[in-house]
Amino acid sequence: MIKLVAFYSRADENYFDGAYRYIEVGNTEKAAKIIAASTGAKLFKIEQVQPYAADYQTCIDQAKRDLQTKARPALSRTLPSLDDYDEIYLGYPNYWGDMPMAVYTFLEAFDWNGKTIHPFCTHEGSGLSDTERKIQQTCKGASVSKGLAIQGSKVDSAASLVESWV
Ligand SMILES: Cc1cc2nc3c(=O)[nH]c(=O)nc-3n(C[C@H](O)[C@H](O)[C@H](O)COP(=O)(O)O)c2cc1C
Repeated sequence: MIKLVAFYSRADENYFDGAYRYIEVGNTEKAAKIIAASTGAKLFKIEQVQPYAADYQTCIDQAKRDLQTKARPALSRTLPSLDDYDEIYLGYPNYWGDMPMAVYTFLEAFDWNGKTIHPFCTHEGSGLSDTERKIQQTCKGASVSKGLAIQGSKVDSAASLVESWV
């Protein structure tokens, strides 16, 4: 059965090794593409109707407010169901020690019974935080495997790490 790589990722301005830089492809998206290339999985990007700001500081504030208010940002598209997939790689950046709230919007739309979720996260120091447990709580009936944490600013040299985890 074909696998799915569902991921959230933001391009635009981000922080790399002490400097702010605009990038065209987000760190988690790069990791997602490595996983898709080595598994033949289908890619699905979780996108908000109203994306966070391109400007890093504004984005930080918006994401913090959404976390504090337990927001569920509307998604610009979703999947009709997960019936075609047993195994789902779920990718997200660490946002304030949690997942972006739009990932919860995505997860809460499905019946997870019998599915296997492989979490992968990009971050700048916090690793996965407590996200494996949060995924397990949100996705009742799913089996959540041990996640992979990738330092976002080092994703370009993480292919072998990602492939061996896969
Ligand atoms: C809103 C926001 C909050 C973040 N919070 C954290 C954090 O709490 N811990 C951490 O290690 N990195 C944090 N980061 C850094 C991102 O997790 C990291 O840059 C990630 O690779 C971004 O992935 P992306 O390019 O796929 O969006 C944060 C970044 C943003 C934009």
